Amino acid sequence: MQLDSPVLRRWSIWLLAAVLLAAPVYLVRATSLQQSSSEGQAIFAQKCQACHTIGGGRLVGPDLQGVTQRRDLSWLKEFISAPDQMLASGDPIATQLLAEYNNVPMPNLALSPAEVEALIAYLENPAAGGAGNVPPSAAPAGPGDAARGQALFSGQIRLQNGGASCIACHSVAGLPTLGGGSLGPDLTQVVQRYGGEAGTASVLVSLPFPTMQGFFATRPFTPQEQADLLAYFIWAGAQPAPQQTTSPAAWFWAVGIGGALVLFAGMALFWPRQRRSISEQLRSMG
Ligand code: HEC
Ligand code: HEC
Repeated sequence: MQLDSPVLRRWSIWLLAAVLLAAPVYLVRATSLQQSSSEGQAIFAQKCQACHTIGGGRLVGPDLQGVTQRRDLSWLKEFISAPDQMLASGDPIATQLLAEYNNVPMPNLALSPAEVEALIAYLENPAAGGAGNVPPSAAPAGPGDAARGQALFSGQIRLQNGGASCIACHSVAGLPTLGGGSLGPDLTQVVQRYGGEAGTASVLVSLPFPTMQGFFATRPFTPQEQADLLAYFIWAGAQPAPQQTTSPAAWFWAVGIGGALVLFAGMALFWPRQRRSISEQLRSMG
Protein backbone atom coordinates (compact mmCIF):
# COMPACT_ATOMS: atom_id res chain seq x y z
CA MET A 1 0.00 0.00 0.00
CA GLN A 2 1.33 3.40 -0.88
CA LEU A 3 1.50 6.17 1.74
CA ASP A 4 -0.46 8.58 -0.36
CA SER A 5 -3.24 6.13 -1.04
CA PRO A 6 -6.52 8.09 -0.86
CA VAL A 7 -8.08 5.58 1.54
CA LEU A 8 -5.27 5.88 4.05
CA ARG A 9 -5.24 9.64 3.74
CA ARG A 10 -8.95 9.83 4.39
CA TRP A 11 -8.67 7.60 7.46
CA SER A 12 -5.76 9.50 8.92
CA ILE A 13 -7.67 12.75 8.57
CA TRP A 14 -10.58 11.24 10.47
CA LEU A 15 -8.25 9.93 13.12
CA LEU A 16 -6.54 13.28 13.53
CA ALA A 17 -9.91 15.04 13.78
CA ALA A 18 -11.08 12.60 16.45
CA VAL A 19 -7.95 13.10 18.53
CA LEU A 20 -8.14 16.87 18.14
CA LEU A 21 -11.77 16.87 19.24
CA ALA A 22 -11.40 14.46 22.15
CA ALA A 23 -8.20 15.80 23.66
CA PRO A 24 -9.55 19.14 24.89
CA VAL A 25 -12.64 17.46 26.34
CA TYR A 26 -10.44 15.02 28.18
CA LEU A 27 -8.01 17.70 29.32
CA VAL A 28 -10.75 20.07 30.49
CA ARG A 29 -12.39 17.30 32.44
CA ALA A 30 -9.13 16.26 34.04
CA THR A 31 -8.12 19.80 34.97
CA SER A 32 -11.56 20.70 36.27
CA LEU A 33 -11.51 17.66 38.53
CA GLN A 34 -8.02 18.58 39.60
CA GLN A 35 -9.08 22.17 40.13
CA SER A 36 -12.21 21.46 42.15
CA SER A 37 -10.27 18.93 44.18
CA SER A 38 -7.63 21.49 45.11
CA GLU A 39 -10.37 24.03 45.78
CA GLY A 40 -11.93 21.41 48.01
CA GLN A 41 -8.63 20.97 49.79
CA ALA A 42 -8.43 24.69 50.52
CA ILE A 43 -11.99 24.75 51.89
CA PHE A 44 -11.29 21.63 53.92
CA ALA A 45 -8.21 23.20 55.50
CA GLN A 46 -10.17 26.30 56.39
CA LYS A 47 -13.52 24.91 57.51
CA CYS A 48 -13.33 21.21 58.30
CA GLN A 49 -9.86 20.38 59.50
CA ALA A 50 -10.42 21.59 63.05
CA CYS A 51 -12.77 18.66 63.55
CA HIS A 52 -11.84 16.04 60.93
CA THR A 53 -8.80 14.22 59.66
CA ILE A 54 -8.48 12.23 56.46
CA GLY A 55 -6.73 9.07 57.51
CA GLY A 56 -5.48 10.52 60.80
CA GLY A 57 -8.17 8.95 62.98
CA ARG A 58 -11.10 10.32 64.93
CA LEU A 59 -10.81 13.94 66.08
CA VAL A 60 -13.96 15.86 67.07
CA GLY A 61 -15.83 14.16 64.25
CA PRO A 62 -15.20 10.98 62.23
CA ASP A 63 -12.12 10.31 60.10
CA LEU A 64 -13.32 11.15 56.59
CA GLN A 65 -11.08 8.74 54.74
CA GLY A 66 -13.26 6.67 52.42
CA VAL A 67 -16.43 8.50 53.40
CA THR A 68 -17.44 8.77 49.72
CA GLN A 69 -17.53 4.98 49.57
CA ARG A 70 -19.14 4.56 52.96
CA ARG A 71 -22.07 6.89 52.21
CA ASP A 72 -24.44 7.62 49.41
CA LEU A 73 -23.42 10.61 47.30
CA SER A 74 -26.75 12.37 47.76
CA TRP A 75 -26.72 11.75 51.52
CA LEU A 76 -23.19 13.15 51.69
CA LYS A 77 -24.12 16.29 49.78
CA GLU A 78 -27.12 16.91 51.93
CA PHE A 79 -25.28 16.25 55.18
CA ILE A 80 -22.34 18.53 54.38
CA SER A 81 -24.71 21.29 53.23
CA ALA A 82 -27.11 21.22 56.16
CA PRO A 83 -26.29 18.72 58.93
CA ASP A 84 -28.63 20.54 61.33
CA GLN A 85 -31.62 20.11 59.01
CA MET A 86 -30.82 16.45 58.42
CA LEU A 87 -30.72 15.86 62.12
CA ALA A 88 -33.96 17.76 62.63
CA SER A 89 -35.63 15.63 59.96
CA GLY A 90 -34.76 12.53 61.99
CA ASP A 91 -32.33 11.04 59.47
CA PRO A 92 -31.23 7.74 61.08
CA ILE A 93 -27.54 7.98 60.11
CA ALA A 94 -27.24 11.58 61.35
CA THR A 95 -28.98 10.65 64.60
CA GLN A 96 -26.68 7.71 65.17
CA LEU A 97 -23.57 9.74 64.37
CA LEU A 98 -24.59 12.43 66.84
CA ALA A 99 -24.91 9.89 69.64
CA GLU A 100 -21.61 8.31 68.68
CA TYR A 101 -19.84 11.68 68.79
CA ASN A 102 -20.83 12.76 72.33
CA ASN A 103 -23.77 14.83 71.11
CA VAL A 104 -21.46 17.32 69.43
CA PRO A 105 -23.46 18.39 66.39
CA MET A 106 -21.63 19.18 63.18
CA PRO A 107 -22.34 22.88 62.56
CA ASN A 108 -24.08 24.12 59.44
CA LEU A 109 -21.22 25.97 57.74
CA ALA A 110 -23.42 27.71 55.17
CA LEU A 111 -21.49 26.29 52.20
CA SER A 112 -22.54 27.01 48.63
CA PRO A 113 -23.45 24.04 46.39
CA ALA A 114 -20.20 24.63 44.44
CA GLU A 115 -18.18 24.44 47.65
CA VAL A 116 -19.90 21.19 48.59
CA GLU A 117 -19.08 19.75 45.14
CA ALA A 118 -15.45 20.77 45.50
CA LEU A 119 -15.25 19.23 48.97
CA ILE A 120 -16.69 15.97 47.71
CA ALA A 121 -14.25 15.90 44.79
CA TYR A 122 -11.46 16.33 47.32
CA LEU A 123 -12.82 13.69 49.73
CA GLU A 124 -13.18 11.30 46.81
CA ASN A 125 -9.50 11.58 46.03
CA PRO A 126 -7.53 13.49 48.67
CA ALA A 127 -4.22 12.73 46.96
CA ALA A 128 -5.32 14.74 43.89
CA GLY A 129 -5.63 17.90 45.97
CA GLY A 130 -2.27 18.99 44.67
CA ALA A 131 -0.23 20.40 47.52
CA GLY A 132 0.21 17.07 49.27
CA ASN A 133 -1.69 16.30 52.43
CA VAL A 134 -3.32 18.98 54.50
CA PRO A 135 -0.91 19.92 57.27
CA PRO A 136 -2.23 19.35 60.78
CA SER A 137 -3.87 22.34 62.46
CA ALA A 138 -1.57 24.57 64.43
CA ALA A 139 -1.29 23.55 68.07
CA PRO A 140 -1.61 26.04 70.92
CA ALA A 141 1.64 27.30 72.44
CA GLY A 142 3.14 25.04 75.10
CA PRO A 143 1.46 24.33 78.42
CA GLY A 144 -1.21 26.78 79.52
CA ASP A 145 -2.08 28.33 82.84
CA ALA A 146 -5.56 27.28 84.02
CA ALA A 147 -5.96 30.21 86.40
CA ARG A 148 -5.15 32.66 83.63
CA GLY A 149 -7.54 30.73 81.38
CA GLN A 150 -10.32 31.24 83.90
CA ALA A 151 -9.56 34.95 84.11
CA LEU A 152 -9.70 35.17 80.31
CA PHE A 153 -12.94 33.20 80.24
CA SER A 154 -14.65 35.41 82.80
CA GLY A 155 -13.29 38.69 81.44
CA GLN A 156 -11.01 39.58 84.35
CA ILE A 157 -8.19 39.61 81.82
CA ARG A 158 -9.11 40.99 78.41
CA LEU A 159 -8.41 39.05 75.24
CA GLN A 160 -5.43 40.61 73.52
CA ASN A 161 -7.10 41.04 70.13
CA GLY A 162 -10.26 42.45 71.67
CA GLY A 163 -12.75 39.57 71.31
CA ALA A 164 -15.70 39.46 73.73
CA SER A 165 -14.98 37.41 76.83
CA CYS A 166 -16.41 33.95 76.71
CA ILE A 167 -18.70 34.45 79.69
CA ALA A 168 -20.87 36.77 77.58
CA CYS A 169 -22.15 33.68 75.79
CA HIS A 170 -20.94 30.58 77.70
CA SER A 171 -21.05 29.20 81.21
CA VAL A 172 -18.78 26.79 83.06
CA ALA A 173 -19.86 25.13 86.31
CA GLY A 174 -18.16 26.39 89.46
CA LEU A 175 -17.15 29.84 88.23
CA PRO A 176 -16.69 32.27 91.13
CA THR A 177 -18.78 34.80 89.26
CA LEU A 178 -22.31 33.46 88.96
CA GLY A 179 -24.08 32.95 85.70
CA GLY A 180 -22.60 33.19 82.25
CA GLY A 181 -24.33 33.66 78.95
CA SER A 182 -26.54 31.08 77.34
CA LEU A 183 -26.21 31.99 73.65
CA GLY A 184 -23.45 29.37 73.36
CA PRO A 185 -23.32 25.92 74.98
CA ASP A 186 -22.08 25.26 78.53
CA LEU A 187 -18.36 24.50 78.25
CA THR A 188 -17.80 22.57 81.50
CA GLN A 189 -17.37 19.23 79.73
CA VAL A 190 -16.06 20.59 76.45
CA VAL A 191 -12.83 18.56 76.55
CA GLN A 192 -14.77 15.35 77.14
CA ARG A 193 -17.24 16.09 74.37
CA TYR A 194 -14.64 17.17 71.85
CA GLY A 195 -12.80 13.90 72.06
CA GLY A 196 -9.99 14.95 74.38
CA GLU A 197 -7.31 17.58 74.37
CA ALA A 198 -6.33 17.26 70.70
CA GLY A 199 -9.85 17.92 69.44
CA THR A 200 -10.46 20.78 71.86
CA ALA A 201 -7.11 22.37 71.05
CA SER A 202 -7.75 22.30 67.32
CA VAL A 203 -11.24 23.72 67.79
CA LEU A 204 -9.82 26.57 69.91
CA VAL A 205 -7.27 27.34 67.22
CA SER A 206 -9.70 27.75 64.35
CA LEU A 207 -13.11 28.27 66.07
CA PRO A 208 -15.08 26.56 63.30
CA PHE A 209 -18.46 27.75 64.61
CA PRO A 210 -20.52 30.11 62.47
CA THR A 211 -21.71 32.23 65.39
CA MET A 212 -18.27 32.56 66.92
CA GLN A 213 -16.68 33.23 63.55
CA GLY A 214 -18.80 36.35 63.32
CA PHE A 215 -17.19 37.67 66.48
CA PHE A 216 -13.70 36.21 66.40
CA ALA A 217 -12.71 35.95 62.72
CA THR A 218 -10.97 39.31 62.92
CA ARG A 219 -10.00 38.95 66.60
CA PRO A 220 -8.31 35.56 66.90
CA PHE A 221 -7.06 34.22 70.22
CA THR A 222 -3.29 34.34 70.61
CA PRO A 223 -1.54 30.96 70.95
CA GLN A 224 -0.93 31.68 74.64
CA GLU A 225 -4.61 32.46 75.18
CA GLN A 226 -5.55 29.20 73.43
CA ALA A 227 -3.20 27.29 75.70
CA ASP A 228 -4.51 29.00 78.85
CA LEU A 229 -8.15 28.45 77.89
CA LEU A 230 -7.43 24.81 77.09
CA ALA A 231 -5.74 24.35 80.48
CA TYR A 232 -8.77 25.91 82.14
CA PHE A 233 -11.24 23.64 80.29
CA ILE A 234 -9.17 20.57 81.18
CA TRP A 235 -9.24 21.66 84.81
CA ALA A 236 -12.96 22.52 84.79
CA GLY A 237 -13.92 19.20 83.20
CA ALA A 238 -12.00 17.29 85.85
CA GLN A 239 -13.80 18.90 88.81
CA PRO A 240 -16.46 16.85 90.60
CA ALA A 241 -19.93 17.93 89.55
CA PRO A 242 -20.92 20.87 91.76
CA GLN A 243 -24.09 20.91 93.86
CA GLN A 244 -27.16 21.67 91.86
CA THR A 245 -27.26 25.45 92.02
CA THR A 246 -30.62 27.15 92.27
CA SER A 247 -31.51 29.03 89.15
CA PRO A 248 -33.01 32.51 89.41
CA ALA A 249 -36.33 31.14 88.14
CA ALA A 250 -36.37 28.54 90.94
CA TRP A 251 -35.69 31.32 93.45
CA PHE A 252 -38.58 33.33 92.09
CA TRP A 253 -40.97 30.42 92.58
CA ALA A 254 -39.57 29.50 95.99
CA VAL A 255 -39.94 33.06 97.26
CA GLY A 256 -43.38 33.45 95.68
CA ILE A 257 -44.82 30.19 97.01
CA GLY A 258 -43.14 30.62 100.39
CA GLY A 259 -44.55 34.13 100.67
CA ALA A 260 -48.05 32.98 99.82
CA LEU A 261 -47.84 30.22 102.47
CA VAL A 262 -46.76 32.73 105.10
CA LEU A 263 -49.64 34.97 104.10
CA PHE A 264 -52.18 32.13 104.33
CA ALA A 265 -50.81 31.05 107.68
CA GLY A 266 -51.13 34.61 108.95
CA MET A 267 -54.71 34.85 107.72
CA ALA A 268 -55.55 31.48 109.27
CA LEU A 269 -54.28 32.71 112.63
CA PHE A 270 -55.91 36.08 112.32
CA TRP A 271 -59.26 34.96 110.94
CA PRO A 272 -60.63 32.89 113.88
CA ARG A 273 -59.54 35.62 116.31
CA GLN A 274 -61.53 38.15 114.35
CA ARG A 275 -64.48 35.77 114.16
CA ARG A 276 -64.26 35.28 117.90
CA SER A 277 -64.14 38.98 118.46
CA ILE A 278 -67.22 39.44 116.28
CA SER A 279 -69.12 36.78 118.19
CA GLU A 280 -67.93 38.37 121.44
CA GLN A 281 -69.22 41.68 120.24
CA LEU A 282 -72.57 40.11 119.35
CA ARG A 283 -72.72 38.42 122.73
CA SER A 284 -71.94 41.64 124.51
CA MET A 285 -74.59 43.42 122.43
CA GLY A 286 -77.11 40.74 123.27
C1 HEC B 1 -17.10 21.69 65.00
C2 HEC B 1 -16.65 20.48 64.43
C3 HEC B 1 -16.94 20.14 62.99
C4 HEC B 1 -16.65 20.86 61.85
C5 HEC B 1 -16.05 22.24 61.76
C6 HEC B 1 -17.01 20.02 60.73
N1 HEC B 1 -17.51 18.83 61.16
FE1 HEC B 1 -18.14 17.28 60.02
N2 HEC B 1 -18.74 16.29 61.68
C7 HEC B 1 -18.54 16.71 62.98
C8 HEC B 1 -19.12 15.75 63.90
C9 HEC B 1 -19.11 15.85 65.41
C10 HEC B 1 -19.67 14.73 63.09
C11 HEC B 1 -20.42 13.50 63.55
C12 HEC B 1 -21.89 13.73 63.36
C13 HEC B 1 -22.51 14.61 64.41
O1 HEC B 1 -22.20 14.47 65.60
O2 HEC B 1 -23.32 15.46 64.02
C14 HEC B 1 -19.39 15.10 61.70
C15 HEC B 1 -19.76 14.32 60.60
C16 HEC B 1 -19.38 14.58 59.30
C17 HEC B 1 -19.64 13.71 58.17
C18 HEC B 1 -20.32 12.35 58.20
C19 HEC B 1 -19.23 11.33 58.39
C20 HEC B 1 -19.70 9.93 58.27
O3 HEC B 1 -18.98 9.06 58.77
O4 HEC B 1 -20.74 9.70 57.68
C21 HEC B 1 -19.13 14.33 57.07
C22 HEC B 1 -19.14 13.80 55.66
C23 HEC B 1 -18.56 15.58 57.51
N3 HEC B 1 -18.74 15.71 58.87
C24 HEC B 1 -17.95 16.49 56.68
C25 HEC B 1 -17.51 17.73 57.09
C26 HEC B 1 -17.00 18.73 56.18
C27 HEC B 1 -16.83 18.54 54.69
C28 HEC B 1 -16.70 19.84 56.93
C29 HEC B 1 -16.18 21.17 56.47
C30 HEC B 1 -16.93 21.84 55.48
C31 HEC B 1 -17.01 19.52 58.32
N4 HEC B 1 -17.51 18.23 58.36
C32 HEC B 1 -16.84 20.39 59.40
C33 HEC B 1 -17.90 17.85 63.38
C34 HEC B 1 -17.49 18.87 62.54
C1 HEC C 1 -20.97 36.25 71.10
C2 HEC C 1 -21.16 35.01 71.69
C3 HEC C 1 -19.96 34.11 71.95
C4 HEC C 1 -18.77 34.45 72.58
C5 HEC C 1 -18.34 35.80 73.11
C6 HEC C 1 -18.02 33.22 72.65
N1 HEC C 1 -18.72 32.19 72.08
FE1 HEC C 1 -18.09 30.27 71.91
N2 HEC C 1 -19.85 29.78 70.95
C7 HEC C 1 -20.91 30.65 70.72
C8 HEC C 1 -22.00 29.90 70.12
C9 HEC C 1 -23.36 30.48 69.73
C10 HEC C 1 -21.55 28.57 69.98
C11 HEC C 1 -22.32 27.37 69.38
C12 HEC C 1 -21.85 27.07 68.01
C13 HEC C 1 -22.40 28.02 66.99
O1 HEC C 1 -23.61 28.13 66.87
O2 HEC C 1 -21.64 28.67 66.28
C14 HEC C 1 -20.20 28.53 70.51
C15 HEC C 1 -19.41 27.39 70.58
C16 HEC C 1 -18.20 27.29 71.24
C17 HEC C 1 -17.46 26.07 71.41
C18 HEC C 1 -17.94 24.70 70.99
C19 HEC C 1 -18.78 24.23 72.13
C20 HEC C 1 -19.76 23.13 71.90
O3 HEC C 1 -20.20 22.57 72.89
O4 HEC C 1 -20.10 22.85 70.76
C21 HEC C 1 -16.31 26.38 72.10
C22 HEC C 1 -15.21 25.43 72.53
C23 HEC C 1 -16.34 27.80 72.36
N3 HEC C 1 -17.49 28.33 71.81
C24 HEC C 1 -15.35 28.49 73.04
C25 HEC C 1 -15.40 29.84 73.32
C26 HEC C 1 -14.37 30.55 74.06
C27 HEC C 1 -13.12 29.91 74.62
C28 HEC C 1 -14.77 31.86 74.12
C29 HEC C 1 -14.05 33.04 74.77
C30 HEC C 1 -12.69 33.26 74.45
C31 HEC C 1 -16.04 31.98 73.42
N4 HEC C 1 -16.40 30.72 72.95
C32 HEC C 1 -16.76 33.14 73.26
C33 HEC C 1 -20.94 31.98 71.04
C34 HEC C 1 -19.91 32.70 71.64
